[in-house]
Amino acid sequence: MADAKPILVTGDRPTGRLHLGHLVGSLYNRIAFQDEYDCYFLVADLHMLTTHYDKVKEVEQNTLEMVMDWLSVGMDPNKSTFYVQSQIPYITELYAMLAMICGVPRAERIPTLKEKIQDMGVGDNYSVGLLGYPVLMAADILMFKATKVPVGDDQLSHVELTRELARRFNHLYGEFFEEPDPVISKTSRLVGTDGDRKMSKSLDNCIYLSDDEKQVNKRVMSMFTDPNRIRADIPGKVEGNPVFIYHDAFNTKIPEIEDLKERYRTGNVGDVEVKKKLAAAINELLQPFRDKRAEYEKRPDDVRDILREGTNRAREKAHGIMDQIISAMGLFKP
Ligand code: TRP
Repeated sequence: MADAKPILVTGDRPTGRLHLGHLVGSLYNRIAFQDEYDCYFLVADLHMLTTHYDKVKEVEQNTLEMVMDWLSVGMDPNKSTFYVQSQIPYITELYAMLAMICGVPRAERIPTLKEKIQDMGVGDNYSVGLLGYPVLMAADILMFKATKVPVGDDQLSHVELTRELARRFNHLYGEFFEEPDPVISKTSRLVGTDGDRKMSKSLDNCIYLSDDEKQVNKRVMSMFTDPNRIRADIPGKVEGNPVFIYHDAFNTKIPEIEDLKERYRTGNVGDVEVKKKLAAAINELLQPFRDKRAEYEKRPDDVRDILREGTNRAREKAHGIMDQIISAMGLFKP
């Protein structure tokens, strides 16, 4: 029955807790797709190793934190399969096969590669694994013959490469893979609390899904707003103002937002009121997640069980598809 549904693959690198940027960038989409699609949600620990190969000590804790975030927002292991990428050798096998049909210059043209090399400060001395990042992602997606891939817009070039590799595989070995479609959410790049760049752990401009009320209040009260508005009676700019971007994204009280915007534009509201209402809205949004997370924090073994069962299920499925791939390619199986 589950097999009758189209397949969806997506996931995250296990680098720790998830934040509001993840929520609007991908988590909401995943939850929405869970009934319609047979969803495979991966803990992309091999992808994590491409940049953090020396951080293996933290991977277990980071995985558990991240999966608790998944569960707390409503990703449902009874509907979907949660699994650990590195524990499915068929993915690595497919990665090796796809690497043979991916040109090095093509992989070098991926825009995120340059960013990663810069972030790591490794100059020309980047690893084969880092170059292969999008090929590995193609293996994740094609391993389950997925047709839908919800991702942030920074991952689009990887899905594009996946489509090309599927096409190339089909051309060489006969029609086998369908080209998967990426799905981008409407708020795909949430600005950080600094109002400067995308919300990201390394920039320390995040509100985490698991932050408590005090932390949220503190983060929101220190947010950047319209820099030209030095007093509450000066008309302010709403467009592009991070505080209002967040109101639009997280506050469900539309009339309250409209009222605040109107008074902000005309210089009739202070930043403090705008921020207090924002903090209240975010706290209201996060409260059910916190409650659910608290349950799992009491039962970390359940989280492990969910991952173990999902990984076993995914491995079995991948095994079957790998057999088909080997047949499709006509490799000799003595
Ligand atoms: N590279 C993705 C990210 O950093 C995570 C990821 C790994 C992924 N494999 C994937 C996403 C397959 C979608 C499909 O966000």
